[in-house]
This record gives sequence, C-alpha cells and structure tokens, in this order.
Amino acid sequence: MTAANTLKVFDTTLRDGEQSPGCSMNLKEKLEVARQLERLRVDVIEAGFAIASPDDLAAIKAVSREVKDCVIASLARALPKDIDHAWDGVREAAAPRLHTFIASSPIHMEHKLRKRPDQVLEQAVDMVRYAKQYCSDVQFSAEDATRSEPEFLYRLFEAVIDAGATVVNIPDTVGYTTPWEFTELIQGIRNNVPNLDKTELAVHCHNDLGLAVANTMAAVRQGVTQLECTINGIGERAGNAALEEIVMGLKTRQDFYNADTNVDTTQIYRASRLVSTLTGAQVQVNKAVVGANAFAHESGIHQHGVLANQSTYEIMTPASIGLAANRMVLGKHSGRHAFEDRLITMGYSLPKEQLDEAFEQFKALADKKKIVADADLEALVEQKAAHIPETYSLKRFVINSGNSITSTACVTLVNGGGAVKEAVATGDGPVDASYRAIDEIVGLEFELDSYGLNAVTEGTDAQGEVLVKIKREQKLYNGRGLSTDVIEASVNAYLNAINKMYDEIRQASGKEAGAEESMAHE
Ligand code: KIV
Ligand code: ZN
Repeated sequence: MTAANTLKVFDTTLRDGEQSPGCSMNLKEKLEVARQLERLRVDVIEAGFAIASPDDLAAIKAVSREVKDCVIASLARALPKDIDHAWDGVREAAAPRLHTFIASSPIHMEHKLRKRPDQVLEQAVDMVRYAKQYCSDVQFSAEDATRSEPEFLYRLFEAVIDAGATVVNIPDTVGYTTPWEFTELIQGIRNNVPNLDKTELAVHCHNDLGLAVANTMAAVRQGVTQLECTINGIGERAGNAALEEIVMGLKTRQDFYNADTNVDTTQIYRASRLVSTLTGAQVQVNKAVVGANAFAHESGIHQHGVLANQSTYEIMTPASIGLAANRMVLGKHSGRHAFEDRLITMGYSLPKEQLDEAFEQFKALADKKKIVADADLEALVEQKAAHIPETYSLKRFVINSGNSITSTACVTLVNGGGAVKEAVATGDGPVDASYRAIDEIVGLEFELDSYGLNAVTEGTDAQGEVLVKIKREQKLYNGRGLSTDVIEASVNAYLNAINKMYDEIRQASGKEAGAEESMAHE
C-alpha cells in the first residue's frame, strides 16, 4: 500500500455552524472554540462571514490575532464590499485566506442572482482577482454546485483558477447529491478542468438527506484534497458533514481510503463537548463517534466480547477520541493531586486560579455525591470555558412547591454593583416561579426560547445540567447551569444567559459593569 494522503480539514463550525438557528455564540465563546480547533489541529478555521454583522467581524479579527497554527478564513460573497470586510477580518492572521462564493446552478442564477451564466462567470473571475490584490490564498466556492450544469462548472472553475484561486470548492449546498452522482461530478471536473492541478479541490456537504459524510467520503475516493465540516455536524438546516465522523472514518478505514488528516483525534471528544455546551445544541445519544452511547456496550453478548477482546465489537477505542480509557471515579476523600491528575489525563490543563476554583467546586460536589465521575468533572470544567462577567449572581432561593399548591419562589440575587435584590413570584411549577422572580429583578424585556434538562451521570444524586436559550430583539443567548439540585441548575442557567445578554449590551453601549439598573430602564 502506498503512503496515505494527508487531506486538509477545513472547519466551518464558526461560520456555517454558528449561522444556523440556535447555535450562535458570543465573541468569547467563539475564541474558546477556535482555541480548541487549534488544539485539534484542523488546517483551516473559517472564523465567520465578516460582512454579516459587526460581531462576526470582531470575532474573525480576534481569532486571527490569537490562533497562529491554522489558516484563518473569512467568507465573502463575490462582491467588493464583502471582500473588503473579509480582508479587514483576517489581515492580522499568520496565514489568512479569503473565501469568496457565487451560485452556479440555473435555479440560483435565475431566481436569486437574476444573472446569466456568463455574467456570473465574469463576476466570479473579477472577484477572485479583486481578492488576490489582498491575499495570495483565495478560495472560490460554486454555491449549489451539485445542481449546476457540469459544463458550466468546468468553465467556471477553469476561469477562477486562471484568475488565481488557490482552492476551488464543490458545495452540495442543499444536501441533494448522492455518493454515486457526486463521484461522477468530481470525475467530470477532474477530466474537464485542465488547470485543476494548480489548486486544492475541496468539498462541502450538507446533511439534508443524511448523506453529508457519505458524500464527503465518496469525494475522498476521487482524490479531493480539502474536506469541509463542522464539529458535531452543526450547520444550516440538517447541518454540515460532521468533522468527527470524517476524521475517524479515515483513521479507522485507512486500509480502504488510503487517506488521513493532521487532526489530533484525542481532542475530538473535548471539542464536541465544548461546542454542544456553548451552543446549547445537544448531541444525540446515538450520534456516531461522540454520542453518549457510541462506546456503551449494553447487551451481555457484546459486553462479554469486549471484555474478552476489545476489537470484537469496538472498531475504534474511546481513548482515540480523548475519552479517558480508564473511567476512574473520584470521591470526597480524593485530594487535589488526584483531582489535578485526573483532569490532565482527561486532556484539561487549567490555569492555577481556575484549577483552585474547580477544586473547590469538586469538593462541594463530592460532599453531595458519593462518586464524582469523569462526566461530572467535564461538566464542571466546561462551565469555566468562557468566563462571562456576572451582572447577576444567585445568593439564595427558597421554593414552596407541591402537587396541591401553586409553586412560589423567593429568589435573592446580587448585582454587579454588589446590591442585593429579592423578589417573590408564583408560577406553573418551581422553575417557572423562580424564572418569574428573576424577571422581576432584572426588569429587562426578553423571552425564554427553550429549556432542557439532562442528568450528567446516572443515579438520583446525579448533577442536573440545564441548557436554556433566551431571546431579545431576535438574538438568542445560551445559558448553562449545573447542580445536583435541578432548580438551582435551572436558576444558574437562566442567570448565565442573562449575564451573556448583559455582557453584549454593555459591550455595544460601552457601559461599565454595574450599570444594569440604567440598562434595564433604557
Ligand atoms: O453551503 C454552501 O454552499 C456554503 C458556501 C458558502 C460554501 O456554505
Ligand atoms: Zn454550507
């Protein structure tokens, strides 16, 4: 067998993933994800769509400044103002890339662009040339390529490559193609674009019919060199091809694909957890590679087989994606050394201050729970991932609830300026009552968009993990709370989302922490 080809991984979690409904992240969260993508050793991070909003632009700039071991790309329509913004975003990156696109399918050209194919081709060429003035690395994508006329696609690719495109990308924008058709399309491109050897050839697949990864893998067999994907497969509608499935597919079946990536697969699990925690988009339990059941062997026959020899039913090991092979447990007698050791084994190295705080929280948790599992530690450490200033924090709460009375909550909060505020409210159950009490204290207009509760481990003493989304002026803010008391977890999740909302309002208005009183009444 010849040496495996190393394929480039282009991660678009922060652009295609983040732009999908309910997956938005603030600047600090995006930076946290970008740092993890760097640890994961993806080749390219698409950090955003610079012209989409000032927040997007700011995040691309921040990622470009901070992440030095990956190419940083910004998306731009094939328009000068988009490309100007995109360049403004990535200009400080160690390795910047401009990624410009225009639709090439008859349906898009006619109804969306209202342009003839020759006009689209001219615009694409002009804009690749325009982007080249700024940046040597220019990617061109033919949006809706899989519903385009192949002959037009050949002409378009040949022309943009002549204009200087260093990567050409074939997106299956609406998740329409099949592995067999995609194979034929790529073969056609290979045989009919004479200058294709001057560029990288990329694919970008959506999952509308559940074939995003299968189509990407079919493309690998046709020798494409860049694979576009997102962590957990988040993205527009049904999402994008999932990075973890592509990467582990290549690694596990190298005998078949003869291809691999530079990804450090032991960082996959952590990346998955981080993205689901920060976006609030939970991973389904039976999701390939990173789902909670991906390595769980329930049936007796399987358990017996795995104990006798792991490879009977396991085609990859939990350790290969960074799930500690030895799921050791800690308890209230475990010391700081064991705690720190465990975190290191799990792939976390926290700065001293965060470690001290996490250890205190671990001790408090171990007092409530007999056994502290890795999943508890993960949940605890991830809570620290993106620190948000606490405009409001919980001092105490008292709930009166039962099946024959109206639930009442008395909630006491401390605001950023140190003032203590208390409110009492009734509601439809204890969570509703406590949220109404908090609403009264906060006094800002917003609504609860979604609420979800999960147990981190098994058992009645398990920590509850609550994920909420609140909405203000069409913007969503995620919050996460963790506690063995599900009401406390709910309150903390709500406050976490409220604090993120305040943080953003404060940044937009240039106000200091502690100014929440005036912000609530503006
Ligand atoms: O799905 C798509 O076509 C895209 C392009 C902009 C690459 O996301
Ligand atoms: Zn896309």
